[in-house]
Amino acid sequence: MAVRINPSILAADFVNLERDVARIATADLMHVDVMDNHFVPNLTFGPQMVERLQAVSSIPLDIHLMIDDPDRWAPAYAELGVFSVTFHAEAVADAVALARRLRGIGARAGIALKPGTPVEPYLELLPEFDQVLVMTVEPGFGGQSFMDSTMPKLVELRAAVASTGLDVWLQVDGGIDERTIVIAAEAGADTFVAGSAVFRGDPTAQIALLRSTAAAHAH
Ligand code: DX5
Ligand code: ZN
Repeated sequence: MAVRINPSILAADFVNLERDVARIATADLMHVDVMDNHFVPNLTFGPQMVERLQAVSSIPLDIHLMIDDPDRWAPAYAELGVFSVTFHAEAVADAVALARRLRGIGARAGIALKPGTPVEPYLELLPEFDQVLVMTVEPGFGGQSFMDSTMPKLVELRAAVASTGLDVWLQVDGGIDERTIVIAAEAGADTFVAGSAVFRGDPTAQIALLRSTAAAHAH
């Protein structure tokens, strides 16, 4: 199975963003964590920053919205022409309507689940989404420890995707490094977000290491 490595720009040096964007050019997608200080206790980027990041990036953008009321705010990100927009199940009022709207604009639609959010209600809705993001830490901050307790959700999702034949990407985000990526790949993930693990060393080498490790253990 093809695997994707999406470095999180949250772990970059914010006063050298263009330099750090260039350092992840060998990755598949740039993961951009949008936080509003309400859904999570941290504040990061808005649409203007996303627009500039997209302008200087050679790889497409994977937007992770950790915001309240995505029904209202998410479409504006899709309108920027980003590759994918993922909103949180815990924050959305009408997940299917929003996913259809994002797809209508031309973005891939993703739904994200916090560690404590069960996956069962979303299994029958899989055709409505291009990606399910299983959070492997509580959203809000980089540099946290991977939570093994979230892996049963991935196993269930992988089985559901396999039985339906749908091309829904299964993304993990939080505490992914060369050790935990093995656990997530074996559980069924195919799309891996990594912040600290990419930027703490040479990003090109880290991306290559994560990619080969994930590919060796993916389904
Ligand atoms: C956390 C963010 C993650 C974060 C991951 O809320 O969604 O994308 O940047 O950072 P690491 O890989 O350092 O856990
Ligand atoms: Zn994220």
